[in-house]
Amino acid sequence: MSWARWQRAAAFGLCLCPVVTSCSGVQSTLDPAGKEAESVATLFWVTTVGGLLIWAVVVAISQYAARWKRETISEKAAGQMIFWGGAVFPVVVLTALLAYALWLMPFLRPFASPGEATTRIEVVGHQFWWHVVYHRADGSIVVSANEIRLPVGERVEFSLTSADMIHSFWIPALGGKMDLIPGRINRLSLLAQRTGTYRGQCAEFCGTSHALMAFPAVVMEPVEFEAWLEQRSVSAATDPANAGQAVFFREKCGECHSVAGTEAKGAAGPDLSHVGSRLTLGAGRMENNETNMARFIANPSLIKPGSHMPGYQSLSQEDLSVVAKWLKGLQ
Ligand code: CUA
Repeated sequence: MSWARWQRAAAFGLCLCPVVTSCSGVQSTLDPAGKEAESVATLFWVTTVGGLLIWAVVVAISQYAARWKRETISEKAAGQMIFWGGAVFPVVVLTALLAYALWLMPFLRPFASPGEATTRIEVVGHQFWWHVVYHRADGSIVVSANEIRLPVGERVEFSLTSADMIHSFWIPALGGKMDLIPGRINRLSLLAQRTGTYRGQCAEFCGTSHALMAFPAVVMEPVEFEAWLEQRSVSAATDPANAGQAVFFREKCGECHSVAGTEAKGAAGPDLSHVGSRLTLGAGRMENNETNMARFIANPSLIKPGSHMPGYQSLSQEDLSVVAKWLKGLQ
């Protein structure tokens, strides 16, 4: 093979890389783990394969005309070719595609019928984090943030709104996206079909840290999900004598954050009642450990540009470390 051909083959291979690597993973629409995502993936494959087939036919015809059939054709034949190939064919194909996509649409966002959704999850978007409230069948609620948990095989209904900008709630592996709009409640229902930890992402530009506004979405067995909710419906063990808890209240962290079972009732920032047990910190930004917790408290805008939380670089290393340890202990 000549050098130019090698280069072309390498360029083609490089172009294929993102296509191949996006076919699987925790944030892939093409690796569906939910009923709604399956419809999206099917539509993608039908349009992609259909488009490739049409492209192949057009290329074959143009090659045939350019290489083998070089004599001119009559004006009447050319006119007919334009009519059938340039007008009728695209109209038929695009109409069929539109009909197919419209037929799929109700399956993309089915509203859970009354009695079908046992869990209702309320999500409020903020710059740049997610407030999450689980409404349980018995009427009680569990407040959380920056993480979504779902039972496998059960339809869950989300009510979505925003406190500031337009955000968009999207778990590609489970279904399509839905905007969170201030002053309005949008509904989305999802049916997860495979357990695992997936990744959700804000899908509407909402400011500096839009790309850093993510969350883990954990699909669990219904029994585990119930146990998880049960565990979070009671306050984590707090201790007024704890040095970290003392720093938390001395610095007035409770003005912006809530910790169940304590005086902290703030609503400007994420609920911290069980923050120690979450998979990530900073809405999917980093691993949840004491070191990262202390780093975030000291300088949030370094980790999350545009974050509304003020930095606490004035705190001593000792204070930072005890408060981080206390928060990580809120399991
Ligand atoms: Cu929130 Cu983008």
